[in-house]
Amino acid sequence: MKIKVMSVFGTRPEAIKMAPLVKELADRPHFESLCCLTGQHRQMLDSVMEIFKLEADHDLNIMQKQQTLSSITTRTLLGMEEILTSQKPDLILVHGDTSTTFAGALAAFYHKVPIGHVEAGLRTYDKYSPYPEEMNRTLVSDMAALHFAPTRANADNLRKEHVQGEIFITGNTVIDAMKTTVRDDYPLELIDRLKAEGKRVIVLTCHRRENYGEPMENIFRAVAELVQTHEDVAVIYPVHLSPAVRECAAKFLGGRERIFLIDPVDVEQMHNLMARCHFVMTDSGGLQEEAPSLGKPVLVLRRETERPEAVEAGTVKLAGVEYNEIVRLGNELLDEPCAYEAMAKAVNPYGDGNACKRIADAIEWYFGLRKDRPENFQKG
Ligand code: UD1
Ligand code: UDP
Repeated sequence: MKIKVMSVFGTRPEAIKMAPLVKELADRPHFESLCCLTGQHRQMLDSVMEIFKLEADHDLNIMQKQQTLSSITTRTLLGMEEILTSQKPDLILVHGDTSTTFAGALAAFYHKVPIGHVEAGLRTYDKYSPYPEEMNRTLVSDMAALHFAPTRANADNLRKEHVQGEIFITGNTVIDAMKTTVRDDYPLELIDRLKAEGKRVIVLTCHRRENYGEPMENIFRAVAELVQTHEDVAVIYPVHLSPAVRECAAKFLGGRERIFLIDPVDVEQMHNLMARCHFVMTDSGGLQEEAPSLGKPVLVLRRETERPEAVEAGTVKLAGVEYNEIVRLGNELLDEPCAYEAMAKAVNPYGDGNACKRIADAIEWYFGLRKDRPENFQKG
C-alpha cells in the first residue's frame, strides 16, 4: 500500500515552491502523490502548472474577481470536504501562509488528516503585517503534525511557541525550483534590449494587501522619482492581476518613460529577468529569497520582514513604505558603487537545492519507512 500524500495549493508562489516537492514524491515508490488545487489564483497558477508540467488531480476553481478573504476560506473549506472524504489521504501538505494554506489545513484538521506544513515558522509577530499571512501561518502551525522550517531561525520560532509535532530544518524549496529555471541563454527580449542600450534595469513587484492604498502610492511615487532622476535607469514591473494593484500601478506609473508595466510573466521568465537585472524592489516574499541567490540587491518595500537571513547577510535592505526612505535607498544603490557592490553578492541562506529531498525523507521517516531522521539543512 502506498502512502497517499495530497498537496493542496492555490496561488502562484505556493505552486512554484510545491512543484519540485510534488515531483519528488511522485518519483518515490512509497508514495502516491496527488495534487489538489484550490484555484485561488487562475491564470497565474495555470502558468506555473504548465512550466513545471504538473497535472491537477482536483481543482476547486474558487477564484472570483476581487475575492474576499472569507470567500476564499469558505469556498476552499467546503470544496475540500468532498475530496477528503472520497480520497482519504494519509497526509496533506500545505505551503506557507495564504488563505488556501489556512483553509486547506483547517479542512484536513476537521477530517483528522495529519498536516505537513512546508515553509513553516516564518514570523513577524505582528498579526496585521503581513495581513492576513502572519495569522494564516501561525494558525497552521497549531494544526500541523510535521513542520518543514526553511531555516534554523524559523525552527527556533516554532520551538519558542511550543508547537506540537516534529520540526525539520529543510531549506526552502524555491531554491530547488530555481535549479531548473535559470539559464544564461534564456531569451528575454525587453531586458536584453534595454541593457544593450546601456540601461540599468530595476525589477519591481508589489502586491501585498497591507500595502493597498497610501503605502503602495508612496512606493510607486518613489519609483517614478528614481527613474525620472536617472536617465540610464529603466523599470520592468510585471503587474499582479489583482484589480486593486493594477489600478494603482496604472495611475502612478502608467505612461511614464522607461517604466514598463507588463503582465505577469511565467516563472522561468521571472527568474531569468532577476538574474539579469541591476537590482530588485519588491514587497514579495518569494523574491526576497530568490534574488539573493542570484547576487542581486533587494530593497524590500515593507515595514518588516519574516525573512531576516538575507538582511543579516547584507544583500537585502528593508526600505519600508515611506517615499523619502525608498528614494534615499534607491539613490544609494544607483549612485554609490560601493554601496551597490556591498549588496551585490550571492548568498544562499534559504537553501541548497535539496529541500524537497529532505522533506520527502522526513515523510518516509514519519510513516516508519526509513530508520533515520533526515539531517537538518542548518544545525540547530
Ligand atoms: C494571494 C495571497 C498572498 C500571496 C499572493 C501571491 C491570500 C489572502 N493572499 O494574494 O499571501 O502573497 O497571493 O501572489 O491568500 N487574480 C486574477 N488571476 C490570477 C490571480 C489573481 O485575476 O491568476 C485577481 C483576482 O481578481 C483576485 C485578485 O487577483 O480576486 C486577488 O487575488 P487573491 O488571491 O485574493 O490575493 P493576492 O493579492 O493574489
Ligand atoms: N513571479 C512570477 N511572475 C511574476 C512575478 C513573480 O513567476 O510576474 C514569481 C516569483 O519569481 C516568485 C513568486 O512568483 O517565485 C512570488 O510570488 P508573489 O510575489 O506573487 O507572492 P509572494 O512570494 O509574495 O507570496
